[in-house]
Amino acid sequence: MDHRVLIVLLWTSGFSPGLQTEEHDAFKVIDYIRLVGGSSRCSGDLEAKHQGVWTGVELEWNLKLADVVCRLLDCGSVVRTSLNLTEAFWFSSYCLRSESSLKKCLTERSFTSTYSATTVKIICSDSVRLVNGKSLCSGRLEVKSNQSNQSWSSVCEDDFDLQDAEVVCRELGCGAPSVLQGALYGDMEAPVWTKEFQCGGHESALLDCDSSDSDRNTSSPGKAAGLTCSELHNVRLVGESSRCAGELEMKQQGYWRPVDDRKSDWNLKTADEVCRKLDCGSAVSTGGRESDFDKRTWRISSTCLQSKSAVRECILTDSDTSSSNLEIKCSESVRLVNGKSLCSGRLEVKSNQSWSSVCEDDFDLQDAEVVCRVLGCGAPSVLQGALYGDVEAPVWTKEFQCGGHESALLDCDSSDSDRNTCSPGKAVGLTCSEPDDVRLLGGSSRCDGTLEMKQHGEWRPVIDLDSQWDQKSAAAVCNRLDCGSAVSTNISTSSSLKSVWWIQPSCVASYSMLRECLRLPSDTIGYDSLEVICSDILAQPNISFATFIDGVSEANQQGIQVLMGSSFTISCSILPQYPGGSFQLILTTSATSQNHTLPAVNHSAHFLFSAAEPAHRGEYRCVYHLYVFSYNFSSESQPLHLTVSASVTDLIIRLVVLLVLMVLMVGSNAAVYCYCKAPRGQKPRREDNMELDHLGGAGDLLGEEAGAQGTE
Ligand SMILES: *[C@@H]1O[C@H](CO)[C@@H](O)[C@H](O)[C@H]1NC(C)=O
Ligand SMILES: *[C@@H]1O[C@H](CO)[C@@H](O)[C@H](O)[C@H]1NC(C)=O
Ligand SMILES: *[C@@H]1O[C@H](CO)[C@@H](O)[C@H](O)[C@H]1NC(C)=O
Ligand SMILES: *[C@@H]1O[C@H](CO)[C@@H](O)[C@H](O)[C@H]1NC(C)=O
Ligand SMILES: *[C@@H]1O[C@H](CO)[C@@H](O)[C@H](O)[C@H]1NC(C)=O
Repeated sequence: MDHRVLIVLLWTSGFSPGLQTEEHDAFKVIDYIRLVGGSSRCSGDLEAKHQGVWTGVELEWNLKLADVVCRLLDCGSVVRTSLNLTEAFWFSSYCLRSESSLKKCLTERSFTSTYSATTVKIICSDSVRLVNGKSLCSGRLEVKSNQSNQSWSSVCEDDFDLQDAEVVCRELGCGAPSVLQGALYGDMEAPVWTKEFQCGGHESALLDCDSSDSDRNTSSPGKAAGLTCSELHNVRLVGESSRCAGELEMKQQGYWRPVDDRKSDWNLKTADEVCRKLDCGSAVSTGGRESDFDKRTWRISSTCLQSKSAVRECILTDSDTSSSNLEIKCSESVRLVNGKSLCSGRLEVKSNQSWSSVCEDDFDLQDAEVVCRVLGCGAPSVLQGALYGDVEAPVWTKEFQCGGHESALLDCDSSDSDRNTCSPGKAVGLTCSEPDDVRLLGGSSRCDGTLEMKQHGEWRPVIDLDSQWDQKSAAAVCNRLDCGSAVSTNISTSSSLKSVWWIQPSCVASYSMLRECLRLPSDTIGYDSLEVICSDILAQPNISFATFIDGVSEANQQGIQVLMGSSFTISCSILPQYPGGSFQLILTTSATSQNHTLPAVNHSAHFLFSAAEPAHRGEYRCVYHLYVFSYNFSSESQPLHLTVSASVTDLIIRLVVLLVLMVLMVGSNAAVYCYCKAPRGQKPRREDNMELDHLGGAGDLLGEEAGAQGTE
């Protein structure tokens, strides 16, 4: 049987194609992998030697890994790849990490099964490469001599101009040169190229260009030619009237194809990278769109795109035809930059292909409403100058006058503000609230239950995509819902089939914006739901005051005033969420803090004070404590301020006032009647009576009078 090696590359964000060569090891890469069938040893089908036999190699392919092969073979950098369908073997991306891991893969029999797969053809640049750059299209230029020595030489800036750079960028499969600068990507390393390039600009390879002897043996420091070619992003949105919305297509190996959304770990964050690459603002929404089955698609690595690499480096491989392809809607002419999520940042507006900052004086809350809506976010929550960095030129010269209901900022009326500059600290910084798209369902409060999210208008349960859901992911949910911290989270199996959304916990952990980490699209499956319990599951308790002498105490701005010596009750209550629990009444005076606890009966507790005295003056708070889900929860009420009117004169004045009132209203007023029927010291109602027993039994922490005095 034809032994073929299939290398399956599992793209991991931590992977970098840097090679660690081990010099003491006699292992020679070229004895184990090769490119065959091309015009030189630097192009052709990738083969590896397995058990003494040269075999085809398949990779779940992307350009960066092909580049590793080129560099391993000392063949410059990758220019392009193509794929054929054949039978092949299997090994992992680990194999290409270093020469020693390659050796390990090829000598140990770790890859065995053959099946139909796509082998890869690689074309390397052979005699030109850029090293030390941030992508395949940038770095310090090195040229490999034709002579027997075959070593790489640095090129001196003086021997290399923009026309030469054009040839290099084209030869490497990149866009036009954008920066050419000495020592941009590190300085000269010996040996130095001894000729001056004289390209016309249209040659297909640098070594095809004319050159003249420069007799250079050394080059002054800071002169190593550093070159940045522009990236050919090869990405577009099609099918809508605007170039900033529609079905995503990418070009690789000369073909524009849609992107298979089922096989790409796609999310809003990645869509946002595409919008920014297309200079189309930020991503508003993304999802799958039903498609014809007859088109072949690309499959891309979302993780790769998020690390801001060039799009062409992130296409993994072509996949079969797909029933659903990705589409994206970008904000087009408005964006928030420098923010923590897609819903916050410094406002910029685009006109005539360039982005302008907006000055705070030209922008108000109604304008902000339009921006937040256009970006797919919730209502504006903070609008403040320089919150996300200061004005950058140019400055928008009109004052926005939105009504608030326009569907695009540039549809709003505006008047000339004749502004050319904007004072420092005035750049519009806007925080829109996150859209209302997360909830916990089925618990006894909004802060516990099964996680559901809304996308494209539909609420669905959320399930864990990469089995990494943990407390940290749950914390992002609690934080998002303003529910405090995460107490616990749990994955519970549900037997029913449902349409779900997938979420990537790894994305949530590093980025914590749930909406931007939903993987698209969704599926209908039996699912394991994510249950989250946050710390703030309890409602806020109420605190209230009652005295047996109605009308004597009074509430004012300073709080409640109670007559010295009168009895009063402070009641704590809470919505009936869970049975049981206890209330703690905390009294803070200027000098000290005291507290007393009663069990909650019917979700409330009544603390009786049989005679008010100066020590009762202070701030009262109820704290409800509950042990549930193996955790102690608590929730605190608003404070209640109590003053005790101390003087006898005060009492006399009040009694006089009451008597006057009685005279005025005699025989007809219910309030007065009640007052007369409820004199001081009357036996409290039944429930008060019962709780007084508790109070007394637990010890007098609130003062000696707060005991069982009220009982008969
Ligand atoms: C070959 O290149 C190396 C540097 O990589 C240098 O030390 C050596 O002298 C060169 N040999 C010849 C024959 O040019
Ligand atoms: C708390 O007080 C408010 C206003 O007086 C009332 O509407 C609410 O029902 C009370 N809640 C509880 C749990 O007693
Ligand atoms: C409640 O009182 C106890 C005993 O006096 C004290 O140890 C505790 O710190 C108090 N708690 C609060 C919240 O004041
Ligand atoms: C609790 O409330 C219910 C109905 O509201 C009442 O029947 C019951 O007597 C109350 N229990 C106590 C101990 O007050
Ligand atoms: C909850 O509170 C009780 C009483 O304060 C304490 O005994 C218990 O250890 C606490 N449990 C946890 C899990 O913190």
